Amino acid sequence: MAAVLEIKNVCKHFGKKTVVDHVSFSVNEGEIFGFLGPNGAGKTTVIKMITGLIRIDEGEIFVNGYNVAKNFEKAMARVGGIIENPEMYGYLTGRTNLKIYSRMHGNVDDARFQETIEMVKLGNRIDDKVKRYSLGMRQRLGVAQAILHRPNLLVLDEPTNGLDPVGIKELRDTLHTLSREQGVAVLVSSHLLSEMELMCDRFGIIDNGKIIDIKTMDSIQLNEQNLARYHLEVSDIERASKIAAELIPDSAPSIDGNCIDLSATREEVANLNKAWIENGLLVYELSPVHKSLEDEFMDITHGSKTQLR
Ligand SMILES: Nc1ncnc2c1ncn2[C@@H]1O[C@H](COP(=O)(O)OP(=O)(O)OP(=O)(O)O)[C@@H](O)[C@H]1O
Ligand SMILES: [Mg+2]
Repeated sequence: MAAVLEIKNVCKHFGKKTVVDHVSFSVNEGEIFGFLGPNGAGKTTVIKMITGLIRIDEGEIFVNGYNVAKNFEKAMARVGGIIENPEMYGYLTGRTNLKIYSRMHGNVDDARFQETIEMVKLGNRIDDKVKRYSLGMRQRLGVAQAILHRPNLLVLDEPTNGLDPVGIKELRDTLHTLSREQGVAVLVSSHLLSEMELMCDRFGIIDNGKIIDIKTMDSIQLNEQNLARYHLEVSDIERASKIAAELIPDSAPSIDGNCIDLSATREEVANLNKAWIENGLLVYELSPVHKSLEDEFMDITHGSKTQLR
């Protein structure tokens, strides 16, 4: 699959501080890539380097094969984005704002204009002044600006900010349509994992300027199938835990009342259940402990969400 965006060993320093530290990843055609990290991790800084808003201190960024630093115009020709707050004129309507914006790109015909407005579901408010828009409506107009000229790379910095759950779902559907049907590569940053989980095919987790992990959604789902941790409730916890210890020696059990949490494979836990029943115990509950992406993220970043740098 063709990489639309390639980031190679990119660094950014502000004074003596390295805020982006040898970041590398790529985003392929038709892929939605989530860029996840706590406040101050360096997400916006990377995105600003991709879109030429700030200089790349070290490393290289390629868009559609063009080097952003050396061939800026060609690299940006098919990029659309929202970075922090998109520029809008409050005293003009959404439609006029979009018109002004479209002139920057030349060839936007009326049909495309209308199609874009419908895609972001701003149809009945597009002729209102932007200063009367809610935050979510501004975000929708921002998305309209970003996709109007049919980019093949979309770069969205925290696009779900200010959107309600319906707005988030609609944005997700819009991005899925663009990526699946039109092959658009999407880079979307966020610190909210719950919504990214449904939106993205892959994640890069950034903390303190470094990429600490890149995961595919498939690998996360695979993990869930061979899941390591189970929660069980049983009638006689003492006998139950003895049997468990014999059957699964390295299960790192933790006991709370009549419940036991342990690490095991599917087969092991099924056999444990059988052994308990054969020993006359009653099993009330047996369920995998779902480790959410949020937990995993907190583990990986060691909860640095709470300590801004
Ligand atoms: N112009 C600047 N001068 C000095 N430091 C800066 C500048 N811009 C950003 N920084 C610092 O770079 C680091 C990364 O900031 P950045 O905005 O990229 O983080 P972020 O991941 O986008 O965070 P958030 O989730 O809060 O948007 C922060 O420590 C920030 O204070
Ligand atoms: Mg940011």
